Amino acid sequence: MSGFSIEWLNLREVSDHRARDKDLLKTAVDWLNNLKAKDKVIVDLGSGTGSTIRGLQRYTTLTPSIQWRLVDNDPGLLAEAIHRHSEEYSIESFLVDLSETQKLPLKSVSLITASALLDLVSENFIRDLCQLIKEKNESQPVGFYSTLNYDGCIKWTPFHPLDASILMNFNADQRRNKGFGPALGPDATDFLTRQFHCAKFQCLSAKSPWLLGPADYLLTESLINGISGVAIKTDGLTNSDILDWKTFRMKNIRTGTCFLGHTDILVLPNSLARYR
Ligand SMILES: C[S@@+](CC[C@H](N)C(=O)[O-])C[C@H]1O[C@@H](n2cnc3c(N)ncnc32)[C@H](O)[C@@H]1O
Repeated sequence: MSGFSIEWLNLREVSDHRARDKDLLKTAVDWLNNLKAKDKVIVDLGSGTGSTIRGLQRYTTLTPSIQWRLVDNDPGLLAEAIHRHSEEYSIESFLVDLSETQKLPLKSVSLITASALLDLVSENFIRDLCQLIKEKNESQPVGFYSTLNYDGCIKWTPFHPLDASILMNFNADQRRNKGFGPALGPDATDFLTRQFHCAKFQCLSAKSPWLLGPADYLLTESLINGISGVAIKTDGLTNSDILDWKTFRMKNIRTGTCFLGHTDILVLPNSLARYR
C-alpha cells in the first residue's frame, strides 16, 4: 500500500480531468499520433489506477496501436488499473519503486507521462529522469507529459483569517520526504523546466487548478481533513486555531469555493523533422 487509496484516487479523478489543460493534452497526443515510430509506447509513472489513460481517452483520440506500461509501487493500484483497462489496450504493469530510475521500463518509449506525481519527488529524481529522457532522445524522440503538479496556491471563499498560516504549514509539509529524498513540492515544475533549458527541447506549461464548488463537497471535505491533519503535526498554530479553521471550512462546504493550483508540463524534442 502506497498511502494513496483507490477511494481517494476515485474521489479526485473528476476534478483532475476537468482541471487538466486541454490544449497541452491535445498537443501531447497530436505529437504522439504524428510520430513515425513503429511501436508507440506510453510509460505512465505513478500510474495509480490508470487516471492518465482515462484522461487521454476522454478528451482525445489515441491511435489504437498504443502500448501502455504502468509503473507504480502499489500492487493493489496496479491490479485495479489492469482490471479497468486490459480489455481495451495492450497494457503491462510494472511494480517498481520510481526512485530506482535505472529500473524504469523505458525501452522503445515514445511518451512518458505522470499525473499528480512531481510534487512528491526530489531534485535528484527529476535530474535522473531528465537525464534519461535526454539520453533516449539521442536515438529516438521521447516526450514527457506531466499534469496536476501542485503549485503551492490554495484560495478559499469565504475568507478565514487563518487561511494564510494554514497554507504556510501545508506548503512546508509538501517538502517532506515522500520516498525520494526531500520533496520539491510546489517547486517541482520550475526545477524540471530548468533541466530542459537547451535548444534541443521545447517546454510548454499551463495552469490546471482544481476549481471546487458546492458540487465537489466530498473532495473539499477530504482536502480540509487532510490540510488540518497536516497543520496539527506542524509547528506554529495551536490545536484550537486549527479546529476553529476546520469547523469554519466544514460549515461553509456547501456554499464556499476552493481554488487549488496545479501546473501541467509538456516537454517535446525540438528537432521533430528528424523523426517524421
Ligand atoms: C497522487 S497519486 C497519483 C496517481 C495517478 N497518477 C492519478 O493521477 O490518479 C501518486 C501515485 O504515485 C505512486 N507512487 C508514489 N511514490 C512512488 C514510488 N516511490 N514508486 C512508485 N510509485 C509511487 C502512488 O502509489 C500513487 O499511485
